[in-house]
Amino acid sequence: MLTAEDKKLIQQIWGKLGGAEEEIGAEALTRMFCSYPPTKTYFPHFDLSPGSDQIRGHGKKVVAALSTAIKNIDNLSQALSELSNLHAYNLRVDPVNFKFLSQCLQVALATRLGKDYSPEVHSAVDKFMSAVASVLAEKYR
Ligand code: HEM
Repeated sequence: MLTAEDKKLIQQIWGKLGGAEEEIGAEALTRMFCSYPPTKTYFPHFDLSPGSDQIRGHGKKVVAALSTAIKNIDNLSQALSELSNLHAYNLRVDPVNFKFLSQCLQVALATRLGKDYSPEVHSAVDKFMSAVASVLAEKYR
């Protein structure tokens, strides 16, 4: 469960990204494709070389979706309902992959934010990404 303090930390840290959303998203995706190569099979139509236009464009979309989720943090199911349909019914992404992306996003955030990515922030982001992942996976049941 996200506590009120967790929510505050997530909002604060997101506020510190200041225009670097596309870069963070692209780095998270690049790390995911590199560390967990089977994730590449979902993107056969993408140019997956690091920093490609498609990776950047997609990174921006993913981070924008997370920003929407943060704005609707008390109502994630509704806020992410369409994305949940897309990932479950259209894309059929195996839910195990959500953990991989979450992990890679955290490394991207940590390398950018340095000391600001404190253990408390780490824990809050981890809980938030788990909550997002369970919403994205809830239609599979
Ligand atoms: C598309 C978000 C995890 C595979 C998308 C889109 C968003 C998004 C916003 C674009 C939707 C649109 O264009 O309307 C997220 C979020 C995730 C997540 C917030 C987890 C935190 C994953 C994972 C995979 C994946 C783990 C597979 C390893 C895809 C694919 C597309 C897509 C294949 C379609 C790409 C395209 O053809 O443009 N996702 N996603 N997603 N996602 Fe995810």
